[in-house]
Amino acid sequence: MEPRQMPVPGERTSETIRRFRDEGGSVIPVELPGKVGAWVVSSYETVDQVLANDGILYSKNPRNFTALHDGTVPPDWPIRQLIEGDHLLTKDGADHRRLRSLINRAFTPARVQSLAPRIQQMTDELLDELADEKADVVDLVWHFSEPLPVAVICELFGVPEGERYLIRACTNTLLSHTTTPEEAIKAGGELTGYLAAFIERKRGEPGDDLTTDLIRAQEDDGDRLSDNEMLWILWLVLIAGHETTVHLIANTIVALCTDPGQLAAARKDDSWAQVVEEALRSRNSVINVLFRYPIQDVNVAGTTIPAGDPIIVSIGGAGTDRARFGDAAGRFDIAREPEAHLGFGRGPHFCLGAPLARLESRIALSSLFARFPELRLAVREDEIVYSTSLITEGPVELPVALGP
Ligand code: HEM
Repeated sequence: MEPRQMPVPGERTSETIRRFRDEGGSVIPVELPGKVGAWVVSSYETVDQVLANDGILYSKNPRNFTALHDGTVPPDWPIRQLIEGDHLLTKDGADHRRLRSLINRAFTPARVQSLAPRIQQMTDELLDELADEKADVVDLVWHFSEPLPVAVICELFGVPEGERYLIRACTNTLLSHTTTPEEAIKAGGELTGYLAAFIERKRGEPGDDLTTDLIRAQEDDGDRLSDNEMLWILWLVLIAGHETTVHLIANTIVALCTDPGQLAAARKDDSWAQVVEEALRSRNSVINVLFRYPIQDVNVAGTTIPAGDPIIVSIGGAGTDRARFGDAAGRFDIAREPEAHLGFGRGPHFCLGAPLARLESRIALSSLFARFPELRLAVREDEIVYSTSLITEGPVELPVALGP
C-alpha cells in the first residue's frame, strides 16, 4: 500500500485517522514531514495489542514495543522536543519505573481527592467572573476551559499566578500543526530556561507544593533525581497536566451542547462521571500517543511492521472503532454500557494524571452547567475552529451564550 501523507492540511487529526481507517484499514503506512515513514494503528484491537506489549525493558513477559525514541523524528516537527525529551514518555524499564514511582506519590487517588475542595473553589471563582461578563457571547475556552486546568496544575507545582501565561503560551506553540520549527525551538527553549530558573528559585524559597516535594526527594540520600530529570519532570507534567484537560473539557461542552438529550440526561441523573468517561472514549483530547517502535518485525492485524519503524498509536481511533463499540461508535452517548476505553492509554505509560483529570473535568462540567442552565453554543458546530496536532485536539475558541 502506498504511504499516505500526514498530517493532511486543513483536516483535524481525528478526522484523518478515521478516514484512513475507513479507506485503508486499521494498520496503514504514512509519510510524515521530512519523508519519515511511519505506521498508523487505529482500531481498538491493534492499539490494545501495541500498548499491552509495550515496555521491552520491563522484565515480566516478553514484549515487542518500546517508547525509547530511536532518532526517527521528522526534523522540522514542532513536537520534536517532546519526542526527544528526557522524560517519562520516552523511557522504558527500570529508568521509567524509578522516575514514575517518584512522581506517582504526588498523584495517588487519595492525594488527588483531597484537592477537590480547592478545585471546586477555583471553578466557582471562574464561574463568578463569567456571570459578571456583560457580553452576550463569551469564549468559554478563554474564560473557563483553559484557565482552570492551567491554574490547578500551576498551583500544585507552585508556579506563581503572574508566570502561568508563559506555560500556556509555550504549550500552545509546541503543540500546534501550524508552528514553524524556529518557533517551536524558541518556545521549548523559553520553557526550559524558565523552569531551570524556577527550580533554582524554589530551592531558596520552598513552599507547600510539589516542586518543593520533588526538590526534597532530590536531596534525599536515597533515590536522587538529577537536575536534568527534575527539569524534564516539570516540563512534561506542566504540559501534559493542562493541555489535555483544557481540550477534554471543551470537547465535552461541544458534545453536550449539540445534543440536548444527553445534557438533560446528565443533569437529571447527575451522571457527570459517566459524561467524562464517554468523552474520553469518543471525544478525547489525546488522539495519538507518542511513537512506539517494534524491536523486531511484528505482525499487527495481518500486516508486518518492520523493526524500528515508528508507530502512531491512535487511542482516538480505538475509541471510535465500530468493531468494538458498535455502529454508533462515533456518537457521544452517556447511556451506553460503560466499557473499558483506552483514553488514558494502557500499560507502563498509563496516564499518571488520570485521577486528577477525571476529578477536574467532572467538577468543571457539572458546575458550569449547574450555574448556567441556558448555556448554548453561539456558533454552528461546523464553525468551531480546532487546534489540532499529532497528539492533541480541541476547540481554539468556544463562543457561547450564557443567558436566555
Ligand atoms: C500519560 C491522556 C491528563 C500527566 C498519558 C497517556 C495518555 C494520557 C493517553 C499515555 C501516553 C503514552 O502511552 O505514550 C491524558 C488525558 C488527560 C490527561 C486524556 C486529560 C483529560 C493528565 C494530567 C496530568 C497528566 C492532568 C497531570 C499530571 C501525564 C504524565 C504521563 C501521561 C506525566 C506520562 C506517564 C508515563 O509515561 O509513565 N496521559 N492525560 N495527564 N499523563 Fe496524561
